[in-house]
Amino acid sequence: MEYRHTPVMLRETVDGMNPVPGGKYCDGTLGGSGHAALICERIGEEGIFIGIDRDGEAIRTGEKRLKPYRCTKLFCKTNFENIKAVLSENRIPAINGAILDLGVSSRQLDEAGRGFSYMKDGPLDMRMDGGADNAGPTAEDVVNEYSETELCHIIREYGEERWAKRIASFIVAERRRSRIRTTGELTEIIKKAIPAAARREGPHPAKRSFQAIRIYLNDELGALERGLTAFLDVLGPGGRLAVITFHSLEDRIVKEAFRKRENPCECPPGSPVCVCGKVADVKRITKKPILPSEKEMEENPRSRSAKLRIAEKL
Ligand SMILES: C[S@@+](CC[C@H](N)C(=O)[O-])C[C@H]1O[C@@H](n2cnc3c(N)ncnc32)[C@H](O)[C@@H]1O
Ligand SMILES: [Zn+2]
Repeated sequence: MEYRHTPVMLRETVDGMNPVPGGKYCDGTLGGSGHAALICERIGEEGIFIGIDRDGEAIRTGEKRLKPYRCTKLFCKTNFENIKAVLSENRIPAINGAILDLGVSSRQLDEAGRGFSYMKDGPLDMRMDGGADNAGPTAEDVVNEYSETELCHIIREYGEERWAKRIASFIVAERRRSRIRTTGELTEIIKKAIPAAARREGPHPAKRSFQAIRIYLNDELGALERGLTAFLDVLGPGGRLAVITFHSLEDRIVKEAFRKRENPCECPPGSPVCVCGKVADVKRITKKPILPSEKEMEENPRSRSAKLRIAEKL
């Protein structure tokens, strides 16, 4: 299958990270290699590019798509939160820049067999790093085995879904009859749980619940928190980290992580002098997030919720 994914805020992100010839750069969310190709183009023959993705398919696509570029390329199928291990295995002490373009790629959504899509019927999987080498729980396990309270919590917390309680109770009632196995079955249950009046407006009724289960299952917010700390640690002086988020939970984590590194003092408010000794090692390049242009939002609906934040290591 052709890896179709239109990179979001391509120029804004890569320009913001400011890659220079001969530098070392990492894309922690390789996906369809859209951002990666522009980075590789900019860093020239002497540059080093490190491509990371949890999804083996993204790595295979990257290896192919980035072949024409002459920089040194290293690929690693792992969670980006493991950046320190990846760099130390390759004897790279620090990098000059990195990008994280969060969430799932269009390809992952398009492939019914991955189970991410409420638009296409497939097995309830949703593991970003699914496949033969991952025996971890799937969305099917969560939906059929978690308690009603746990399901309600997941859907409310990670989907910001106001009908979480009803959805959880409908799921539990349905699975008593028979195990819920497909994305199509789950979508139907969610539709039944949300009152018709509420269903008429806004995005697809199953969007929030699917997002919630996916975020929970892949521990996306935990990986983001740990990943941000690790990436900010491994940036050399003047190195930049650019992060694109797609919903408020992610954006809040990025905003807070950057703010904390810029202003880490933990002394009680009103203290005459700082005694905690924590000093800033990062400055924010974007005080407010950068949003896609009207034109991009029109051309690529997926970009509509995107926010870009950039920080620089001091
Ligand atoms: C939105 S896509 C990236 C698209 C890419 N920028 C492009 O231009 O094609 C997100 C990718 O990040 C990967 N991903 C998400 N969270 C990850 C994590 N914690 N570690 C590694 N890869 C992750 C997904 O598997 C997916 O391929
Ligand atoms: Zn202090």
